[in-house]
Amino acid sequence: MRTQVAIVGAGPAGLFLAHLLFREGIDCVVLEARSRAHIEGRVRAGVLEQGTVDLMHELGLAERMRRECMIDNTLDIRFRDGLIHLDLPGLAGGKCATIYGQQEVVKDLVAARLADGAPLAFDAEVIGLDAIESATPTVRYRQNGDAKTLACDIVAGCDGFHGICRDAIPSGALTIYDRIFPFGWLGILSESPPIREMTYVNHTRGFALCSRRSPRISRLYVQVAADESPDRWPDERFWDELRTRLGEGGGELVTGRIFQKGVTPVRSFVAAPMRHGRLFLAGDAAHIVPPTGAKGLNLAVADVRVLARALAEFFRTGKSARLERYSDTCLKRVWKTVRYSTYMTNLLHRFEQATPFERQLQQAELAYVAGSRTGQAMIAENYVGLPFEEE
Ligand code: FAD
Ligand code: PHB
Repeated sequence: MRTQVAIVGAGPAGLFLAHLLFREGIDCVVLEARSRAHIEGRVRAGVLEQGTVDLMHELGLAERMRRECMIDNTLDIRFRDGLIHLDLPGLAGGKCATIYGQQEVVKDLVAARLADGAPLAFDAEVIGLDAIESATPTVRYRQNGDAKTLACDIVAGCDGFHGICRDAIPSGALTIYDRIFPFGWLGILSESPPIREMTYVNHTRGFALCSRRSPRISRLYVQVAADESPDRWPDERFWDELRTRLGEGGGELVTGRIFQKGVTPVRSFVAAPMRHGRLFLAGDAAHIVPPTGAKGLNLAVADVRVLARALAEFFRTGKSARLERYSDTCLKRVWKTVRYSTYMTNLLHRFEQATPFERQLQQAELAYVAGSRTGQAMIAENYVGLPFEEE
């Protein structure tokens, strides 16, 4: 089998890239290790930046989202001394954020690709990349027990943090930047109406977050130990802890049946450059950011916008100038996003090892944001999504 672009992974990065290339008339094959049911059921992100939403509209993929999404015009931060209420459009030039689950985005992109009759293989695990430094790389994969090969011009490594594409780059050619925070997030989904505003909480017992997926489904998180097991959190314990951390806001909390529970690490990781020969990494395969900024999915989408544009130029004209700039262009946004996600993580979490001096500084930072339109605008403009720079 042969194609122009072999896309490894059908997460947001791989699926958006496939649709962008389809629009440009570029052939690609998407190879996904897991089943369709698995990727459509995987609960992860929920906050879409305006740019991600606009792209879904541009690609004609927004019909269901338009009907089912929730618009976030406000964001609340609760802390010892009170409540910071951010009016997002007022602070960020009219922009807002959109709540629509990552798995809903994945479902919509998978359905549209299959409806286009375009190649997307499930249960197709990539096991090796060959000749990525040549103009004719190949991808080896396994499907239904059979070993197969896909020849291509370009490999797009969209296979997430635990994929294999990043490892195909010789270690001497990559610089890794890594910070692991000493805590995780226990996240649940419950059948209960969410509290009114998206609410982030800084509490002496630890961070908490009240988000949602629909008017009847809440998405809730509490900070826990990095190695915490969800089994240690029977439902009652979770609700009690969340109510305590919400303080005055806890009165609004409605409980319900918890139907999903999991622990997520809090970590930053950047591998640079995001390209080696004919292999281009995009999304979590190249970088992850702490969930506090709600940016991972959006950053994956930002990467593949740049990549699709560069590939369109390459296949149309044979020029590779944009492909040469791919990594530098993406990494500028990546590092701004790492900065913002780190800022929010430091602002809102309990750091066990923090000195009394550092704890005072954290409260002072919150008090500063509470009283400063500039401080609030910085958070708001990052939350709704930074503008795309001209390349
Ligand atoms: P992935 O979604 O990981 O997709 C990679 C795909 O590649 C997977 O389907 C995998 O099965 C496949 N794959 C792996 N190896 C192979 C192989 N060898 N062969 C073939 N296929 C392979 N981000 C936000 O923007 N906003 C949020 O609100 C947010 N909240 C989050 C909350 C949680 C609890 C978590 C865990 C993450 C959150 N994120 C958020 C981050 C976001 O989910 C990720 O950044 C996003 O999934 C990255 O997309 P991706 O396509 O790069 O990678
Ligand atoms: C979510 O809705 O899952 C969510 C919201 C905000 C975050 C992270 C996750 O910062």
